[in-house]
Amino acid sequence: MSRQTMNETGPRLYLSRTLPDPVMARIRERYHLVAEPDEAPPSVERLQAGLRHAQAAIVTLTERIDQRALVGADQLRILANYAVGYNNIDLTAARLRGLIVTNTPDVLTDATADLAWTLLLAVARRVVEGDKLVRGGGWTGWTPTQLLGREVAGKTLGILGMGRIGQAVARRASGFRMAVLYASRRRLPPEVGHPEWRAVDVPELLRRSDFLSIHAPLTSSTRHLIDAQALAMMPSHAVLINTSRGPIVDELALVDALESGRIAGAGLDVYEREPAIEPRLTALSQVVLLPHLGSATEMARVNMGMICLSNIEAVLSGRPAPNAVRE
Ligand code: DGY
Repeated sequence: MSRQTMNETGPRLYLSRTLPDPVMARIRERYHLVAEPDEAPPSVERLQAGLRHAQAAIVTLTERIDQRALVGADQLRILANYAVGYNNIDLTAARLRGLIVTNTPDVLTDATADLAWTLLLAVARRVVEGDKLVRGGGWTGWTPTQLLGREVAGKTLGILGMGRIGQAVARRASGFRMAVLYASRRRLPPEVGHPEWRAVDVPELLRRSDFLSIHAPLTSSTRHLIDAQALAMMPSHAVLINTSRGPIVDELALVDALESGRIAGAGLDVYEREPAIEPRLTALSQVVLLPHLGSATEMARVNMGMICLSNIEAVLSGRPAPNAVRE
């Protein structure tokens, strides 16, 4: 839809990035965009200028929303974060301005759990190496010893962070007859958990997981939770999967552990300094690297936008936001 069809009289909305078409159509129908969204992350100046003129904003995980970004944003009432994780927002700065912050839970749970499993299986069965061999014309035919991988069925899956996504990953493990261990801030109540999922502490999780998948939020207590010491506790055949936030893993320590064979492999969708990636990681064949695709299905990304809009609609009409987050 062209800019001309924009609703000039609706509430003023700042949108930091272009969202999928159905969301853009709904936005242009109901809101007055204070600036055209960018395909790439906006500069701090553009972000500041947009927030300053808006009553509501939809921002994404690539925008750091702190005191500086919020300077002059006096009419802003809600920051709808287009993600379930909200570590990009300084909640104290938002609270001091009386802003409601919301996120997009539930609608991306299955997409992200599927992607964690995609990485797990891809690393275990050396899918990317196989694809490379075939495309590169180097495949000369079936051999009994080519690209032998690891069995997944019957192994132990460790889950660090047993929220919605962690639980969805654990549910998928039953098809593989896997034992599930988890470490989480809260033990699951019996009606939520599966009777065979066992809560353990982090050291036990590290020691016993054949595959360890991270689903914790990034906070001051989870930053570098997986550091050299943690990696040293994992079995040497273990595979680490991360689809949550990059800085939970000390990326340099992970590269050291992979290079030295301290652990066997990794599947990563997120990185410490996105979009920069530690160059030594890209040289390792036992690693599968994706460009932060956890929620990247058509359905999840459209629904994430619609959730942002329902939260904005609620707040601007004086109702509580359904997905408000708290410090
Ligand atoms: C999230 O929602 O936190 C995801 O990382 C976005 O893809």
